[in-house]
Amino acid sequence: MILVTGGAGFIGANFVLDWLTQSDESVINLDKLTYAGNLQNLASLEGDSRHIFVHGDINDQQKIATLLREYQPRAIIHLAAESHVDRSIHGPEEFIQTNIVGTFRLLDTVYRYWKEQEGKTQQAFRFLHVSTDEVYGSLSKDAPAFTEVHRYQPNSPYSASKASSDQLVRAYHHTYGLPTLITNCSNNYGAFQFPEKLIPLMIVNALAGKSLPIYGDGQQIRDWLYVKDHCSAIRRVLEAGTPGETYNIGGWNEKPNIEIVHTICNLLNELRSADYHKLIKYVADRPGHDRRYAIDARKIERDLGWRPVETFETGIRKTVKWYLDHQDWVASVQSGEYRKWIETHYQEHVG
Ligand code: NAD
Ligand code: TYD
Repeated sequence: MILVTGGAGFIGANFVLDWLTQSDESVINLDKLTYAGNLQNLASLEGDSRHIFVHGDINDQQKIATLLREYQPRAIIHLAAESHVDRSIHGPEEFIQTNIVGTFRLLDTVYRYWKEQEGKTQQAFRFLHVSTDEVYGSLSKDAPAFTEVHRYQPNSPYSASKASSDQLVRAYHHTYGLPTLITNCSNNYGAFQFPEKLIPLMIVNALAGKSLPIYGDGQQIRDWLYVKDHCSAIRRVLEAGTPGETYNIGGWNEKPNIEIVHTICNLLNELRSADYHKLIKYVADRPGHDRRYAIDARKIERDLGWRPVETFETGIRKTVKWYLDHQDWVASVQSGEYRKWIETHYQEHVG
C-alpha cells in the first residue's frame, strides 16, 4: 500500500480518488484536517476498505512511526502543506511549522523506517514530495520557462517554506540515500478546490452575486494545470521516476489572471444566462506579488512520456460545471458544516 499525506485537501482528495479508480492498492490517508481538509471530498469512498483515513499531523513522529510499522507502505506521497500565499502573508508561522518542520519530521521518521527495510523492499521504496513552481520565483515577460535547474528564488513565505522543504528532501537523498522524488507543479484547478484560490473564488463569488477581486492590474501570469492531469503525473513519476531527480509538471497554459476571470464569466454567462463581467473589481495588489510563472515540462515528457490530457478550455469548462453541479459542497464549505463530517461519518483511527 501507499501512504498519502494531506489526502483530504484539494489535490490530495483528487489523487486518492484517482488512485483507487486505477488500482486496488490501498491508501493510508494521513491528514490533520485543517480548514483546507475536507473529508466530504472522499464521501464516495465511505465503506471502501482500500481507503484508511488517519486523523493526524505530519509533525507527530510517534504516530507516523506506528503507522509505518503497522502498514508497511511501499511509498509516501507527501502533499500535506499550508498552501495559500495570501494566508502565508498574513500569518507565516503555520507555514514554517507544517511545510518545513513537518516535512523534516516526516522525512526523518520515514528515513528510519526505510533504513530497517531489506534488499529489494528498500530499493523499491519511494518518498515523493509534491512541490510548486513558486520556489523558482518570478519571471519577466519574455524569460524562458522554469526548468528543473532554474535557481531557487522564493518570494513569499509560502514559496520560501516549500523551497526549504524541497531542500530537506534533496539532502535526505544526497546524505542518506533515501530514494526521493520531487515534483514542482504549476497552479492546479478542478473539483474540490477550496474557494480561497483564484478560480473557485471567482466561480463561487459570481454565483453569489459578489464582486470578483482582481489584484493589481490583473496581468500576472500563471501556468494552469487541470488537477487530474497533476494526479496522473504524480502516478507516472512514482512509477518510473529516477530517485534523486526533480520533475517539473505544467499544463502549457500560461494565462494572465484577468483572462482567466473573463473566461469564467463567459462560461457562466453561457450556462446561466446572466452578465457576470460587471462583477469584476480591481483591488489593491498582493504584497510582493510574483509577476509570472511558467513551466518547461519537457523533462517529464522526454524521460517519462507524460503530457497533460486537458487543454485549459476543456478543463475550465469541466471545473465551472462541477461547481454549478455541487452547490451543496460549496454551501457546506462556506457554512463550516464540512468540519463536522468526521464526527458523523468516520471512525477515527488511533495510531
Ligand atoms: P490544500 O491546502 O487544499 O490541502 C492541504 C491538505 O493538507 C489539507 O487536507 C490539510 O488538512 C492537510 N494538512 C495541512 N497541514 C497538515 C499537517 N501538519 N499534517 C497533516 N496534514 C496537514 O492544498 P493543495 O492545493 O491540495 O496542495 C497540496 C500540495 O500540492 C501542497 O504541498 C502544495 O504546496 C502543492 N501544490 C499545490 C498547487 C496548487 O495549485 N494547489 C500547485 C503546486 C503544488
Ligand atoms: P492563487 O489562486 O492564490 O494562487 P497563487 O498565488 O499560488 O498563484 O492566485 C492566483 C493568481 O490570482 C495570483 O496572481 C493572485 C491572483 N488573485 C487575484 O487576482 N484575486 C484573488 O482574489 C485571488 C485569490 C488571487
